[in-house]
Amino acid sequence: MTTPFLSVQDLKVHFPTADGIVKATDGLSFTLEKGKTLGIVGESGSGKSVSSSAILGLHRGTSAIVSGSILLDGVDLLSIGDEEMRRKRGSEIAMIFQDPLSAMHPYYTVGNQIAEAYRVHHSVSKKAARTRTIEMLDRVGIPQPNRRVDDYPHQFSGGMRQRAMIAMALINNPSLLIADEPTTALDVTVQAQILDLLQDLQRDFDAAVMIITHDLGVVAEMADDVLVMYAGRAVEYGATKELLTHPEMPYTWGLLSSVPDVTGDTSAKLVPIPGNPPSLLDPPRGCAFEPRCAHRDKVPGNLCRTTLPDLVPGTRYEGHLKRCHLTNPDAVYETEVLPEIAPDLVENR
Ligand SMILES: Nc1ncnc2c1ncn2[C@@H]1O[C@H](COP(=O)(O)OP(=O)(O)OP(=O)(O)O)[C@@H](O)[C@H]1O
Ligand SMILES: [Mg+2]
Repeated sequence: MTTPFLSVQDLKVHFPTADGIVKATDGLSFTLEKGKTLGIVGESGSGKSVSSSAILGLHRGTSAIVSGSILLDGVDLLSIGDEEMRRKRGSEIAMIFQDPLSAMHPYYTVGNQIAEAYRVHHSVSKKAARTRTIEMLDRVGIPQPNRRVDDYPHQFSGGMRQRAMIAMALINNPSLLIADEPTTALDVTVQAQILDLLQDLQRDFDAAVMIITHDLGVVAEMADDVLVMYAGRAVEYGATKELLTHPEMPYTWGLLSSVPDVTGDTSAKLVPIPGNPPSLLDPPRGCAFEPRCAHRDKVPGNLCRTTLPDLVPGTRYEGHLKRCHLTNPDAVYETEVLPEIAPDLVENR
C-alpha cells in the first residue's frame, strides 16, 4: 500500500483552562492525496479550525497539548523543529482564511505583501518577486495586475482581496492548501467565482486541498471526500457523492436539512438542527449528539446516552465511516428523514 500524501492519525488538541481541559479536537484521523479535496464540515465550535491550525503548527509555543501524528509526504509535522515548521508553513503548506482583511496588513500594498511572502522562501531580487507577484495576480483574475499590484488592501473589493490572498497562498507552489471558510464573508455570486477559481488552480498546481466550511453546499461542489465533525470528533467520513446520498449519521441528516440544494430537491425545506453543541469541558458520556438527536429512542437501553459509539464502517459503500448506534440508518433516512426534507425527491423515485 502506498503512503497517503497527508495522513492525520488520532490527532488531539487539548487546551488546559482554569475550568478544566477543553478537548477541542479529540482523536481525528483522515488521509488526503495530492490533487484531491477534503471537505471538513461541522457547526461552529466543532474543532475545524483548531484541527487545521495543528497541521500548520500554529499551536506551538502555546499551552495547547497536541498529540497523534500528522504525516505530510512521510514527515511527521508534530515531531519536526520549529525552524523546519516555519520553513514549511507558507511554502509547502499554505492557508487561506475567511477574512482577508485580517490576514493582510493595511499599511502595505497588496503587491508588497505577496512579494514578501515569496521572498521569505526564495532568494530573489525585489524586481523578480514583483514580476512573479503580477503573474500571480493575473492568474487569480485580478484585472490590470500591473496597476493593481500597488493598491492597498482597502482599495480592493472583498472578492478581489480573497483572490489576492489566494495568490499569496499559492505563490510558493504549496503541496497542501488549507482554506478555512474561504467564501463565508462573500456574497453568493462572488462565492461561486472564488470556488471556481480554487478548483481551476488546484488542477494547475496539483495540490492537496482541505476546505473547511459549515456549508454542505460548498462541500458538494468542491470536495472528493468529506469529514463531518461534531464536538471535536469525526462523526461521519466518506466519499462526498455517496455520503451525501446515503448519510447514516443523524447529525449529517441535520446538516443536510439545513442546505436544501444538496439533496437536489428544489422544494426542500430548511430545517435547522434544534439545540446547541455540548460543552467541550464536560462532554456527554455517550454520543455527543445524543441530547439533540431525534432518533435516539430507536436505540434500545439508553445506549446513546451511556456509550460513545466507535467510528465504524457504514453499510452501503467502501471507505464510509460513521459514529452512531442506529442499526438501520439507511431505512430511517429513506422513510423518515428524506420525505421530511425533500418530498419531491422521494416522489420522483
Ligand atoms: N486557545 C483556546 N483555549 C480554549 N479553548 C479553545 C481555544 N481555541 C479554541 N478553543 C475552543 O475549541 C473549540 C473548537 O474551536 P474551533 O475554532 O476549532 O471551531 P470551528 O469548528 O472552527 O468553529 P467556527 O465554525 O466557528 O470557525 C471551541 O469550543 C473553542 O472555544
Ligand atoms: Mg473555524
